[in-house]
Amino acid sequence: MSETMTASGTRKLKIWRGDLATGELVDYDLETEPGMVVLDAVLAVQREQAQDLAVRWNCKAAKCGSCAAEVNGKPTLMCHTRLDELPEDQPITVEPMHSFPLIRDLVTDVSWNYEVNKLIPPFTPKEDIPTTERGEYLIDQRDTDRMSEFRKCIECFLCQDVCHILRDHRLHNRYYGPRFMVRMASLDMHPLDGLDRKDLAVKDGGLGYCNITKCCTEVCPEGIHITDNAIIPLKERAADRHWDPIMKLFGQGKPPADRKPVRSQQPPDPNSIPGAPSSPGVGPDAG
Ligand code: SF4
Ligand code: SF4
Ligand code: FES
Repeated sequence: MSETMTASGTRKLKIWRGDLATGELVDYDLETEPGMVVLDAVLAVQREQAQDLAVRWNCKAAKCGSCAAEVNGKPTLMCHTRLDELPEDQPITVEPMHSFPLIRDLVTDVSWNYEVNKLIPPFTPKEDIPTTERGEYLIDQRDTDRMSEFRKCIECFLCQDVCHILRDHRLHNRYYGPRFMVRMASLDMHPLDGLDRKDLAVKDGGLGYCNITKCCTEVCPEGIHITDNAIIPLKERAADRHWDPIMKLFGQGKPPADRKPVRSQQPPDPNSIPGAPSSPGVGPDAG
């Protein structure tokens, strides 16, 4: 059999069914076909056995981020996880993301992420940026290369789901999460951006909570090196100002003269971010 084919046959799925009040893993036996991914299997169950099964998806091409869930305990995209990658001698468990409030079955409310996103000022051009005679901005190719990795983010929020600060410690009111550290690092590295968001990243964003476990990097379907290329450089850039006692003593580590410091207009607290979960949802611990 070709390596790209899954074996036909019956597989057992255990799919989370329920809402915030109550729920359980429900068994479904499914006749599989070659090439199936987990999303195919879940949609087949929905079509043939459980028409009321709630599942969110859109592109089936690993590009919209909608089908993020936990398969065999690991945060992943259902449309990007082949059945033949999963142990054949075990049932396949499919559960909703653990770090966000459950709506129903496999669908969670991820709106907290969009509220956090609003707290980060967008790209703001520096004043008096030199341009070419034709009015074009010039950016070094190395800067473009460095930032383009971050632009691949599809906002699946799998990194937010796996991060223990949000998942286990439920510190949604103190830590923005890896996806938004990526966004702030991307803006901080942009040579034409005129704002300095390092105070925001440390004070409101909770950058110091990250202990570089790299779990977020491991689950990113776009292969973004979240810790090595975004969080660690952001920590290094912020370290002089916030954590170096000698620099503090001599009053250094101030924002560069061509960057204006920003702080959030609305410091987050448990009640200021709608949808911030206050208690664990469902599913096993994944890291
Ligand atoms: S490295 Fe670990 S603690 Fe830091 S954001 Fe990623 S998952 Fe969270
Ligand atoms: S950084 Fe990766 S895991 Fe996190 S939201 Fe973006 S694509 Fe998803
Ligand atoms: S359906 Fe779009 S990422 Fe899976």
